[in-house]
Amino acid sequence: MMIREVKNELEMKTFGERIGALLIGGEIIELVGDVGSGKTTLAKGIAVGLGVKDNVQSPSFTINRVYNGRDNLLMSHYDFYRLGEAGIMSNELQEAVQNPESVSIVEWGEVVDGVLPVDRLSIKITSPTENTRELVLVSGGKSSESLLKELSQ
Ligand SMILES: Nc1ncnc2c1ncn2[C@@H]1O[C@H](COP(=O)(O)OP(=O)(O)OP(=O)(O)O)[C@@H](O)[C@H]1O
Ligand SMILES: [Mg+2]
Repeated sequence: MMIREVKNELEMKTFGERIGALLIGGEIIELVGDVGSGKTTLAKGIAVGLGVKDNVQSPSFTINRVYNGRDNLLMSHYDFYRLGEAGIMSNELQEAVQNPESVSIVEWGEVVDGVLPVDRLSIKITSPTENTRELVLVSGGKSSESLLKELSQ
């Protein structure tokens, strides 16, 4: 487990960028937190570290957006907020999480809990004040554990 405080939006993006720079493909990152806690903001930072050149937008209406990053990596960004049940999107997600060249980032993932591998990095975000955020990072298996280790160095 790792706890990290960020003071403002820029620090959130910078921290995401650090995570993104460490990714090699196949990782699953679950972002947990209330509306406006900063999940998409963190995902934007991760995208920068992944070398994504496109502007990352919240996938809340489209459920999923896919971006090209460095080293042939894909970033597949999901937001299941509006879905009562994952339906066909869970097939999409299943393919992405099994693709070693894809990094999956999931917001509001409760509805796809059965599809998400246990070995994922979960980042829980709370917001003590308007601009500060507390991040609790938890790994669920071997690959996410080593990512967490690298992050804490
Ligand atoms: N330290 C911070 N980190 C991230 N966002 C911050 C911070 N301080 C303020 N903010 C603001 O909080 C909001 C975070 O919005 P964002 O879309 O990232 O949240 P979200 O968790 O993805 O919400 P949703 O559940 O609706 O998808 C933005 O308006 C951002 O400017
Ligand atoms: Mg969001």
